[in-house]
Amino acid sequence: MKRNTGVIRKAVFPVAGMGSRFLPATKASPKEMMAIVDKPLIQYAVEEAIEAGITDMIFVTGRNKRAIEDHFDKAYELEAELEKRGKLELLRITREVIPEGINCIFIRQSEPLGLGHAVLCAEPVINHEPFVVILADDLMVSDGASVTQQMVDVYERHHSSVLGVQEVPRELTRQYGIVSSVRVNAELEQVNGIVEKPEPEEAPSTLAVVGRYVLTSRIFHHLRDVQAGVGGEIQLTDAISALIAEERILAYRYSGVRYDCGSKLGYLKATVALALEHPEVRDEFAAYLQHLKL
Ligand code: G1P
Repeated sequence: MKRNTGVIRKAVFPVAGMGSRFLPATKASPKEMMAIVDKPLIQYAVEEAIEAGITDMIFVTGRNKRAIEDHFDKAYELEAELEKRGKLELLRITREVIPEGINCIFIRQSEPLGLGHAVLCAEPVINHEPFVVILADDLMVSDGASVTQQMVDVYERHHSSVLGVQEVPRELTRQYGIVSSVRVNAELEQVNGIVEKPEPEEAPSTLAVVGRYVLTSRIFHHLRDVQAGVGGEIQLTDAISALIAEERILAYRYSGVRYDCGSKLGYLKATVALALEHPEVRDEFAAYLQHLKL
């Protein structure tokens, strides 16, 4: 379903990361092109954005990421070949990777200076609009509205930046941006602090930011100023922390399931979950899993 309210039109996909946790698979091809069943991770992310009415997809790319540009481009030879062979369903699937009215913009992040720097690279295309940031590693599955759609709805109601959050076990806080906050209602918190990858004993809470953000363009001002933080990188978290002094920031407990496809285990879980939903393979795959349990 495509819903176009027009308030938030742009999504940034930082895709310049090395994907070192998946070597050697990611030696020559981007981790975002790894498929869950038959669709690359980045396509799930783009579909989530399209569903939220977003029309401009801004990819911040780096070395070895040409496959992403090719994926979101017309594939003339492939389409001609599929047409010639009468494989019309496959032709439809290939063409629908980028539906009409969707623009893809590629910006090269020349140095891997961190997530914050990647987002800053998109500034010339964003200008002064609110926008979303989607980390394709975090694959979100929801029964109803997509997680990005839910967050755009929150933005439209409150006109504040919104961070997608979930509770995590305390021993995992060092993998996430962690917020401290005051509860507004069952879904919303007002953020009064955020820290990147704190040790469990130092974490202000166990409420972790996952890879979905709605940000106002004021964030760029802070991204230009922040110094390298955790891991020697320009952290988006540090710019958000500086933004708190100026603007209200909300944390939103989204409804849906997140698969951390930046980890092997999360990637495998996502594969199983989505295979069990895939019309072509679900029945046989479910039977196969049953059989394995014996
Ligand atoms: C990034 C962010 C972190 C966030 C996480 C969500 O970390 O820096 O704040 O919690 O994504 O997946 P990364 O996973 O790139 O180390």
